[in-house]
Amino acid sequence: MTSDTTAAPVDAARTVASGTPPPDPQRLEEVEERLVEVINHGALSLMISVGHRTGLFDALTELGTTTIADLARAAGLDERYVTEWLGAMTVGGLVAHEPGDGTYTLPPEEAALLSRATPGENIAAFAQYVPLLGSVEDEIVDCFRQGGGVPYAAYPRFQEIMEEDSEQTVVAALREDILPLVPGLTDRLERGIRVLDVGCGRGRALTELAAAFPNSVLVGYDLSEEAVAHARANAAARGLDNVRFEALDAARLAEVERPGETQLVTTFDAVHDQADPFGVVRGIRTVLADDGVYLAQDIDASSSHHGDLDHPLGPLLYTVSCLHCMTVSLARGGEGLGAMWGRERARTLFAQAGFADVEVHTLAHDVQNAYYVCRP
Ligand SMILES: C[S@@+](CC[C@H](N)C(=O)[O-])C[C@H]1O[C@@H](n2cnc3c(N)ncnc32)[C@H](O)[C@@H]1O
Repeated sequence: MTSDTTAAPVDAARTVASGTPPPDPQRLEEVEERLVEVINHGALSLMISVGHRTGLFDALTELGTTTIADLARAAGLDERYVTEWLGAMTVGGLVAHEPGDGTYTLPPEEAALLSRATPGENIAAFAQYVPLLGSVEDEIVDCFRQGGGVPYAAYPRFQEIMEEDSEQTVVAALREDILPLVPGLTDRLERGIRVLDVGCGRGRALTELAAAFPNSVLVGYDLSEEAVAHARANAAARGLDNVRFEALDAARLAEVERPGETQLVTTFDAVHDQADPFGVVRGIRTVLADDGVYLAQDIDASSSHHGDLDHPLGPLLYTVSCLHCMTVSLARGGEGLGAMWGRERARTLFAQAGFADVEVHTLAHDVQNAYYVCRP
């Protein structure tokens, strides 16, 4: 048989099986190339995460051009594993290899984006989400079949990775970019106001605010005892006595805070994965003073699949949503809004919860999020 005659029945079988016309041969080739590239890059992102966690990018940056043995020694790692990792980095086009003298170099641009040498710019830190999500694949497949969700407890490294994420997307931009979204807010914080951060995680943003504004009193709430313990330890290590952290279901906010006594409430990436997002935002409105501000950072999307076709992080964010944000909410019997709920639904929710004035901003350093400035 020639290859032509073997190809025909395959296409015919596809047509019969799927009810779609036979594939266009040229496009078939293009799609195949693209899919192979997708799988290659998916695998590479795992190795980028490994390189971040093991400190290999940092060691490569520090050493400049190096050999496998020197890199393994400098990073304190097993040489056989470092060899294989360098193989992936080399064929993946991130590390330059000189076979003549057996050396490896991380070019300066890759070093700037993959090592910890450039604070706020470390893309390798975000690659950690890929293995984190992969670790719950079995549970997610079960949820596809039976419904329900995967609880926060199934993601042991979530708070640690989120802390690194927050350090780059929130903390690094807090004073220069985020606070100025609310005119006069920095002055008010300097004079001294009451601030709540709801879903504060390990509390990096609030701790930073507490250090910067000693006259203000700040409280962080999070469901996670582990995150709250970290936040407390971090604040104590910095000698801060104007901030405290409490483990609390944010749906109970209005039970523990007096109505109308807080001038600033923040949520950083913490509405869409709530079990009861409306209840939480309604509680925020209740505890906020009439001249107060609610500042919400949340994933910037369009609220429709077709509206996000050009989203620079669309596939990543839908994946994060399905394998984390949506499912943790569903696991608590919640709404399962998902990370990609988008601006339209966010605006509607904030308005229905009692915020008459909602401004939406974007910031150059953060393509992932929108910043909502909500006033009663
Ligand atoms: C995506 S993380 C963001 C954490 C933090 N704001 C940051 O930017 O690093 C969402 C946080 O919301 C918390 N959370 C989820 N549901 C909650 C609830 N019902 N009450 C309080 N916190 C909740 C989670 O534990 C998690 O720390």
